Formats: sequence, structure tokens, C-alpha cells
Amino acid sequence: VPASRILQFQDRPGILDLSWGHPAPSSLPVRPWLAATEASMQRFGPAALGYGYWPGPAPLTEWIGQRLGQTDLRPATSADVFVTAGASHALDLVCALRTSPGDIVLVDTPTYHLAIETIADHDVEIVGVPLDDGFIDPLAVGDVVAAARRAGRRVRLLYLVPTFNNPTGRSLPLERRHALVELARRERITLVEDDTYREMSYAGPAPASLWSLAGDADVIRIGSFAKSVAPGIRLGFINANPDLVGTLSRLGYVNSGGGVNHAAALTMATFGASGAFAEHVKGLRTRYRAQRDALVDALREAVPSLAVPSPDGGWFIWLPLPPGMTAATLLPLAEAAGVSFLPGSMFYVRGDDDSHVRLSFSMLSPSELAVAGHRLGAVIAGQSRRRPG
Ligand SMILES: Cc1ncc(COP(=O)(O)O)c(C=O)c1O
Repeated sequence: VPASRILQFQDRPGILDLSWGHPAPSSLPVRPWLAATEASMQRFGPAALGYGYWPGPAPLTEWIGQRLGQTDLRPATSADVFVTAGASHALDLVCALRTSPGDIVLVDTPTYHLAIETIADHDVEIVGVPLDDGFIDPLAVGDVVAAARRAGRRVRLLYLVPTFNNPTGRSLPLERRHALVELARRERITLVEDDTYREMSYAGPAPASLWSLAGDADVIRIGSFAKSVAPGIRLGFINANPDLVGTLSRLGYVNSGGGVNHAAALTMATFGASGAFAEHVKGLRTRYRAQRDALVDALREAVPSLAVPSPDGGWFIWLPLPPGMTAATLLPLAEAAGVSFLPGSMFYVRGDDDSHVRLSFSMLSPSELAVAGHRLGAVIAGQSRRRPG
């Protein structure tokens, strides 16, 4: 069976493809995961293969709570955690429980393009939030909410990726985090904090999550093991107040089928408790830091005039193009030169800003990334020269 019918990834011979936010196959912990699977079966026996406890097995929800205490400002308890089949499933569940058709859902600008699709599945209107100084502007968001409510519309959720954002790689500054939590409390909206990249930090600890700062504001954090372990295990979590965890645990399909992805959840608990997870993440940080540097260095060398950001975490470089150049016009030229990317417009609700490209450095080796950066840089530099003064 060809790999193209096993995996989403589609190889394009001759193209160094920076468009996929997927891990490099060689970074995936095949042997450690095999060892954890065997150890989990030995330890839990038939309980690893039964219908699982509704919110997820306690060994995993407890371990997630402790791990958050190490990577965030405060730990969670197992009462605050519901295990899901990844962050995408978590977002879909939150939308199912907290929206009705016709509601307005606010999203950050720019934002994770596939979250836009997941939210759109729920027949809501998606609105990008106003920015100030490159980050979400809580005061302006308050105005948008007030205007929508005056028009008789319901606004209940604001989805954002505040830490090592996809696509920008940036993190929301602490004072904005506090202001956003205050906005959520005042306006009685729920912040849906996509915290998928928390473990992928390359310059010290990740910033405090909105969840950790929430006080009595309503914040639902969604997490994932897709980046820190493997996307194929389809495992993530919702971290929220125990009431929501209870509601999720009482869903019909959870009652019918048991906790989500139970056997993988127990393997993950074993992988975490043995120290294999911490060891693996340490290796990933070193690896991705080197991959980021290879791409950033090549781009800076090829186009010294371009402001190439070097993110402190996550998998992406959000590259601003020279004035007047759009990603849509650059893409065919880049592909002809053997490199590809995602155009920035894909990350806007209305697709109306195409001044950036998203480059993923997760999948290729440092030497491939160096070549990709030089190829793309040469095309951008060539186009800039062609532009009349
Ligand atoms: C911000 C963000 N959220 C969610 C996901 C998907 O996570 P999962 O594989 O756990 O569904 C991704 C993957 O690219 C992502 O970048």
C-alpha cells in the first residue's frame, strides 16, 4: 500500500515543501512508544482494553495535571481534565457544546486555518478580532461584542492560539493575557485557548496560559500530544472547570463508547510516568531549535533586507513579504524553484491579507531547510529587484 494512502502527507518530488505542519518521520518515537505500549499492557492487562473511564483514565488525567504544573503557572487536577482525540476533536466538542447555529464565534487574526474549518462545521458566523500593535485588542473586541449584541446576535466564544501561535510563532504578551481574561469575565464570553505548542519551547518556559490566569473567567484550554509525541495517536485534552468536564463525560457517545481512545490514553500515561515523554520532548526542543535556525539563517543570508522572525517556540515562521508582493503571486514562482509554503491569506477569516507566507520548519532536516530557505530567498530577492523603484 503506498504511503500516500496511509498518511495525509503527499510527497511532491522535486519540491522542498514548507507547507505541512507535520513532524519529521524520523522524530517520531516509534521504539519508545512500542515499549510504552508493552509496559501499559503488562501493567493494566485487560483494563487497558476495556471500555475506558468517562473523562479518560485517571493515570493519564492525573499525569496531565502534574505536567501542566511543570510547564505552566499552576497545575491542574484530574477533575479539570477530559481526554480527547487530539486538539481538533477538543475544539469540535467545545463548539458542539457551547454554540448554536447563527452564533458569532470570534477568532484571533491571523489564526490556525484548520480551526476556522472546524468551527465553520457548526454553522456559526466566524469573525476575526481587531488588533492593536500586532496582537488582539481586548478593548476593540469588547466593542465588537457590544455591537453584535445590540444587533441581537449571540457571541459566546473567542478562539485563539496565544502561545507559539500557528501561523505567526508569536506569543501574546502577559499584560494582554490579563486584559483578555478580564474582557472574558466582563463580557461573559468563553476563551478557547488552543495550547497545542506549549511543550515546543526553545528559549525557556512557555508563557503562563490564559487558563492559569483565569480566576473566575471562563477559559477552556485545549491541549494535544500531536506535536510533543505523535499526531497518529490522536490524543489530546480539554482542561476546563469540573462542570464542563462533567458535561463532556455525560455525552451520549462517551457513555456509549467509554472514554475517548482509552488504550492509547493508558499508553500515554505510561510513556509520561516512565520519564520517556520528558526525555523525548527534550530531544525535540534541540531538534526543532536547530531546524528553525537552519531556515532562519538561510533566509536572512539570501535576503538581508527581509525581517525574518525567529520564533521562541512552535513550528512556524511567519515571513513578511516585501511591500507590494503577495504570497499568491510568489507561490508558483517558488514552486518552479523547488520550494513551497502556505500563503498568508489562508489564515484570515476573509482571506483578505496575503502579505505573509507561513513556513513550517518541522518536517525537513536542517540541510534541506537551508536549501529551501536559499531557494525561496532567491525568488523573493529576484522579484524585489524586478519591481520598479
Ligand atoms: C494550533 C493548532 N491546533 C490544533 C492542531 C491540531 O491538533 P491535533 O492533531 O491534536 O488535532 C494543530 C496542528 O497543526 C495546530 O497547529
